[in-house]
Amino acid sequence: MTAAPLPAPTDPDPTFAELLAARPHLTRHAFDGLVMEEVPLARIAEVAGTPSWVYSAGTLRRRLGALRRALDGAGLAATIHFAVKANPCLAVLRVLAAAGAGADVVSEGELRAARAAGIPASAIVFSGVGKTERELRLALAEDILQINAESAEEVEAIAALAAALGRTARVALRVNPDVDARTHAKITTGRGENKFGVAISDAPALYARMAALAGIEPVGVAVHIGSQITAGMAAYRAAYAKVGALVRELRAAGLPVARVDCGGGLGIPYRDEPAPLPEALAGAIRAGLGDLGLPVMLEPGRWIAGPAGVLLASVVREKRGAAHRFVVVDAGMNDLVRPAMYEAWHGMLPVAPEALVAPLSPAEVVGPVCETGDTFARGRALPAMQPGALVAFLDAGAYGAAMSSTYNLRPLAAEVLVDGARFAVVRDRQGYDALLAGQRLPPWLAPPQEPAR
Ligand code: LLP
Repeated sequence: MTAAPLPAPTDPDPTFAELLAARPHLTRHAFDGLVMEEVPLARIAEVAGTPSWVYSAGTLRRRLGALRRALDGAGLAATIHFAVKANPCLAVLRVLAAAGAGADVVSEGELRAARAAGIPASAIVFSGVGKTERELRLALAEDILQINAESAEEVEAIAALAAALGRTARVALRVNPDVDARTHAKITTGRGENKFGVAISDAPALYARMAALAGIEPVGVAVHIGSQITAGMAAYRAAYAKVGALVRELRAAGLPVARVDCGGGLGIPYRDEPAPLPEALAGAIRAGLGDLGLPVMLEPGRWIAGPAGVLLASVVREKRGAAHRFVVVDAGMNDLVRPAMYEAWHGMLPVAPEALVAPLSPAEVVGPVCETGDTFARGRALPAMQPGALVAFLDAGAYGAAMSSTYNLRPLAAEVLVDGARFAVVRDRQGYDALLAGQRLPPWLAPPQEPAR
């Protein structure tokens, strides 16, 4: 573990009313219970079943707009490239594309999703430490805005490929500023020991090499120091100061720098922890890079999409355990892995109107997957829950569906987009045929036998 410990949560947990007050797209109606924008979540469960991911289009637009205003307000010429890894749902990407967002992609699949959602190639940046030749070929064929190279080896590979294809790759160099973003160790990326980017001390020589290579047009410097950054702006400021100094050095050497990619990582309050506002991030960018007079790019994922989504689930049953009251739901760690993987705290609200005001007692909220880690919440104050009662796990719009799996052979959940009073299932629940599709039994495998005694 290298990250400093996260601040201890303040006890007790926020109340239902406090959770709701911080999430304006969710309201409690006396008859309809929990409502997203203008659509009762119970209505969505009737149509789409559970578990289902539900996204608020209005929230996606509002947050993109808030980020843009903060950058404009700081006097920055900035473009926003949504980190598709946070939520690759085509309908989500389309909402953001229609509001003017570009994309940050890290795989052929994400590049294809961004294009399928209508994001122009000229607004797509390709990041990632392990881009394959096939992926680079596609990026070059699509003539995307920018490839962020993460190593000297990758620079050479891109140059060779581009030259062979008769193309010029616009390449930014991702540097590793060796700062500690003080986030969870599994999602910090800007430490010298991490696999990402090149050491800032190696950057000038490598950038000069990029400028000398046929097939590469060096366009700038990229940096991304980690995700769910809530511990203040110090790490961002330190990173951008180092990048600013690097850009000055590159310019002094006569090398062209067209823009700086400032990465993503802005954290959100999942519980009630203080989290920085976009204005603070814009201020940090301005402090480190403002005097360069360059356009900047941002690659936010979580800050835009996280609060916009919930995971809607049904209670299967309550179970009295030896030590605890368990509320067993029909969503599992295969759907939302963040609690199991990062000890993440997700708010949870019952959907029924009466449940939001009923007496509470602590419960362990668990899924059906055969692992103890399949626990969404511990000691969470909840009302008595009947089988079939609906619950919403909050802030599940980023790294929710995106990280889900079919572990325990559970089909991928449906996805639903809410926009004002309208909603649509934008991804069907995976069917059982699809779940087994593509598997074959080789004819030379022996047929099944009666189980041996
Ligand atoms: N740019 C790059 C190069 C990245 O690696 C990432 C995230 C982003 C942008 C977007 O970061 P964001 O603004 O969303 O923090 N699965 C983890 C988060 C992993 C983030 C990986 N990289 C979680 O659920 O917390």
